[in-house]
Amino acid sequence: MNKLGVNIDHVATVRQARRADEPDPVWAAVEAELGGADSITFHLREDRRHIQDRDAELLCRSVATKVNMEMATAAEIVRIALKLRPTQCTLVPERREEVTTEGGLDVVRTRAKVKPVVRRLKRAGIVTSAFIEPLEAQVRQAADCGFDAIELWTGAYAHARTEKAQGRALEDLVSALELGWSLGLTVHAGHGLTYRNVEPLAAMGGFSEFNIGHSIVARAMFTGLRAAVREMKDLLDRALLKAAALDQADHAPHEHRHD
Ligand code: PXP
Repeated sequence: MNKLGVNIDHVATVRQARRADEPDPVWAAVEAELGGADSITFHLREDRRHIQDRDAELLCRSVATKVNMEMATAAEIVRIALKLRPTQCTLVPERREEVTTEGGLDVVRTRAKVKPVVRRLKRAGIVTSAFIEPLEAQVRQAADCGFDAIELWTGAYAHARTEKAQGRALEDLVSALELGWSLGLTVHAGHGLTYRNVEPLAAMGGFSEFNIGHSIVARAMFTGLRAAVREMKDLLDRALLKAAALDQADHAPHEHRHD
């Protein structure tokens, strides 16, 4: 099943542009859930550029589905996660100068920092996920660090400028997905996914969760968040049904024609 995690950071981005109290990401979470979101994702960044501590706390207390907290391995943020106990923590790289999370966490290079954080989060009953690039070494290291899941960075696929580059990026995603499965990991996908480019990934049926933010929040400006989430959810469901129908047609016995 293609589950949809709605990232509501950008609702807080609009609020923080004025340091006001609206729009409220907590309201956004309710609207997203009413639209069919399977989980709510937020990123409590060290610089608090969008989501604030108050949001993280209220979201963890009020979300009825599942809360996925994106975070770096900074001690302060780990302490907050352990206190709030979201359903899932996704470890991501974080750089102050970036506009949004760029690329995956290099778990090979940061293993010494990452592994103890994974252990502490798991001990607190939190599902752990690593946001990584679809590379064999990263997938293997994520499994070795004890993560329950990986979220494959789909940026190369989403930003590919040619069909060939997009095809290559898709192949990398499929290989990483299959490797993740074979190592017992749950596999998610996210970054740069939109109403236009999500279908081929959704049709694979192998990703258990898609985390999508910018595209949904952007559409919500014109349609409202509930409708924007519903539309993405329908797209994910329809892609699976379409793939299943095509698969069935491929395997159907050929009818003999008697002219
Ligand atoms: N997954 C992760 C780990 C992210 O950090 C983000 C936000 O950068 C997303 C998914 C959502 O990406 P987007 O806003 O491009 O849909």
